Amino acid sequence: MDYALLCGQARELSQAEGWYPALFANAAALLWETLPDINWAGFYIARRGQLVLGPFQGKAACIHIPRGKGVCGAALRENRTVLVPNVHAFPGHIACDSASNAEIVIPLRRRDGGVAAVLDIDSPVLGRFSEEDQRGLEAFARILEDAMKGLDAMEKTIYLAGGCFWGCQKYFDLLDGVIETEVGYANGPTAHPTYEQVKAHAGHAETVRVVYDPAVLPLRELLERYFQVIDPTAVNHQGEDYGIQYRTGIYYADPQDAPTVSAALADLARRCDKPLAVENKPLESFYSAEEYHQKYLEKHPDGYCHIHFD
Ligand code: SME
Repeated sequence: MDYALLCGQARELSQAEGWYPALFANAAALLWETLPDINWAGFYIARRGQLVLGPFQGKAACIHIPRGKGVCGAALRENRTVLVPNVHAFPGHIACDSASNAEIVIPLRRRDGGVAAVLDIDSPVLGRFSEEDQRGLEAFARILEDAMKGLDAMEKTIYLAGGCFWGCQKYFDLLDGVIETEVGYANGPTAHPTYEQVKAHAGHAETVRVVYDPAVLPLRELLERYFQVIDPTAVNHQGEDYGIQYRTGIYYADPQDAPTVSAALADLARRCDKPLAVENKPLESFYSAEEYHQKYLEKHPDGYCHIHFD
């Protein structure tokens, strides 16, 4: 298999169009034409914490794949390539086509490192994908990633700390224009903290990574919605929660967002009679929280929530 040639073709494709539905449609067709012994090649797009079917070649496939489910869901959750020589031995494998025996799934990442989509290829041949195939297909995926300029314009990311991240995540997930959210620990002094360390006041802020469509929900409006559910003058305290991990903060990954954040906070300060406690800083670090914290209130509808949804 000549992966250098395949990557050259991907580069040509991606120069023609960076808008990802067109790019992915042609990329799927190219893989389908080029790779021997495959019965499905296509993309799933990450939206609202799960995967949604994108352009593909092969038999009709399942539309939604939850995070952590099947090979694709594992690649989303673990943010790494998952190569499966025998899908029947993979716990939770989703059999869209009973002819599939082997599978490889490769994440495509946004600039912030989060998974934007996965490339999924199935084969009827056991052990079909070698390490060489993995390297070649990962190089192919990197070219598509670089070309997803349209995606960067259509999706932006901001990190918002508003007290306990369980309720905050649910709140942001309900807003029109929010594409995806993830809870984690931002701007703390140590790498890869555990919840117990954060709870013991290690210094990180419970934060939601919010991916949103600025055409539907401009940053300024998103920040206004965020202001509606925080007490912006409370220091290290929201709802019934006290501690540095419950401080409020707006952490931006794109320096171009800084003026919008400052303007929104200046406007908010004029409406408050006490000084604001909301941090306004570039994002220094963000570590995803443990799986049981993700979409916590979907898993536990009666769980603790400091935000009142009525
Ligand atoms: N088998 C996949 C589901 C998608 S189909 O292969 C197209 C999985 O287990 O994630």
